[in-house]
Amino acid sequence: MLHPLDPLTTAEIDAGRAVLDREGRITPTTRFPTVLPVEPTKDAVAAHRPGDAVERRILFVALETATGRSAEAVVEVTGGTLESWTELATDVAPYGQPPYLIEEYELTEQIARDDPQWQAAMARRGLPTEFAFCAPLAPGFFGRDDEAGHRVIRSLTFLREDENDSPWSHPVEGLIVHIDLTERRVLRVEDEGDVAPPTVDGRFGTAAGLPERTTLKPVEITQPEGPSYSVDGSAVTWQNWSFRVGFNAREGLVLNQVAFDGRPVLSRASVPEMVVPYGDTTPTRFWISYFDAGEYLLGLNANPLTLGCDCLGVIHYFDGVVADGNGHGITIPQAVCMHEEDYGILWKHTQLDGTADVRRSRRLVISYFSTIGNYDYGFFWYLYLDGSIDFEAKATGVVFAGAGEPGSTNPHATEIAPGLFAPVHQHLFCARLDVAIDGEQNSLAEIDVVRMPTGPDNPYGNAFTWQTTPLTSERSAQRLADPSRARVWEITSGSRTNAVGKPTAYHLVPRPGATLMAQPDSSVHGRATFATQHLWATPFSPAERFPAGDYPNGHAGGGGLPAWTAADRSIENTDIVLWHVFGPTHIPRPEDWPVMPVDYSGFSLKPYGFLDRNPALDLPAGIADHCAPGGGHEHHH
Ligand code: NI
Repeated sequence: MLHPLDPLTTAEIDAGRAVLDREGRITPTTRFPTVLPVEPTKDAVAAHRPGDAVERRILFVALETATGRSAEAVVEVTGGTLESWTELATDVAPYGQPPYLIEEYELTEQIARDDPQWQAAMARRGLPTEFAFCAPLAPGFFGRDDEAGHRVIRSLTFLREDENDSPWSHPVEGLIVHIDLTERRVLRVEDEGDVAPPTVDGRFGTAAGLPERTTLKPVEITQPEGPSYSVDGSAVTWQNWSFRVGFNAREGLVLNQVAFDGRPVLSRASVPEMVVPYGDTTPTRFWISYFDAGEYLLGLNANPLTLGCDCLGVIHYFDGVVADGNGHGITIPQAVCMHEEDYGILWKHTQLDGTADVRRSRRLVISYFSTIGNYDYGFFWYLYLDGSIDFEAKATGVVFAGAGEPGSTNPHATEIAPGLFAPVHQHLFCARLDVAIDGEQNSLAEIDVVRMPTGPDNPYGNAFTWQTTPLTSERSAQRLADPSRARVWEITSGSRTNAVGKPTAYHLVPRPGATLMAQPDSSVHGRATFATQHLWATPFSPAERFPAGDYPNGHAGGGGLPAWTAADRSIENTDIVLWHVFGPTHIPRPEDWPVMPVDYSGFSLKPYGFLDRNPALDLPAGIADHCAPGGGHEHHH
């Protein structure tokens, strides 16, 4: 039985496409860079009862590749009607293009390789072209006449020794191909510098055939009675928690209707955008600032987890449904993994008489991985038995590097292997948290701990206190984190109080890194303004989903959060959405080569007076047979 928040099915996408076809909207050169669910209104979701008919709408973003014109089409699938067709003003400032199509990656490579200037540049450098890889890269926005409003892409070249070589190890420095994808031609080729590509071997993994160590003994995770979660379609229950799993091509994993003991905590949670700005000055890379959701689509590039060991234990997989470039539904098998993990000690106390109580923590993990070119990103949500939620982004894969003179120094890049220089860069994720603490009427405040001068209010100098500052409008809610003040942000309920008479609440606990390092007058500052603050908050609006705007590709800037919050709307005692920015700033190191150990970043949501006491007092003492009370010693034979 369909629920309004269920992810799209391939049949629905195909039915929606058939409506567009019937309406004469599809030509042989029409492609679909984005196909997304149009989410039901909150009222429609609240009114839904099992068995009710469900209206399903799909947004098809259609690109006429022959002309470069794009349009948004909304199709109501159940009734089979085209509800709207809206041309996008992609040629009018501030511009903005739909994301790249997979076929445009191949087109980029073909156009670059066929270009006489590229061939001449490679020949002048004496480089072999047979296995050269021409990477398709979003160009940012710099206002050139032949780029603004056009569907353009850039390509950097990487050598490979053979087809199986890692494509990122041997960059050709200073060779940049600018391409117009609509006109299918090279706009210009920049060819400067004659630094030899590094020859360092970048191979790793199974294909590299490196000898494997033999000293690790197996660790087996067994759950002989099965998992403690249950799944009904997209609905999951696990201990006190309940939620619905969603998935779409742009955001990937979405959690809907997250509740603890049936009480709402999050109406919807996802990571709808991230930006990866580079901090060097070279022509090869000064323009790099990838928007991995808005330009490349995180969900479309989700990994099928059918192979390998992403998760351990008893696993439930959810497929991910997206559309291919022709608008047909396709399934990414096992895109989302859900499993339980032991997480050490949840609580413990040894009494004065020596008796001890200890209870183990466990968490439910809901995750997916997306590969965007050289980088791989894991998106992991963790639900805990004590009412906490963690989010963790895992950045791994291969760092993006250029070539330099071995042994030289560069203020913007580190030499991570001989002749291979990896520029400084950031990975700034933005979580969209549609909070619903005991309902949609919520308010926001900032809490700092405060030092107090010694004096009448602090006679011994030891005292300190805390300060709660209500954040009542959008501008007042543009905040930076401050670990020196243990700064957290509190979301309170407008409708429920706890055992001590205070509004029930959750805290957003940041694990802050640097915000955007680029200057206010830089292009990327305007295009990724969301990344200049750790926190933003807005009143809920169904149209406000993507913090850098709907179409950051080729966009001149100013879209999304800076535009929405200009009106400084009230966020007091209303349905509010938090936007939280976090993520690593990388000064790459040799240990990141040739494949980077996972770099972790994220944040926590902790109940703060949401519950009247520790909700995990009832955990059984000896859940695993090897740690029964009084036992716990390893048996030696
Ligand atoms: Ni990095």
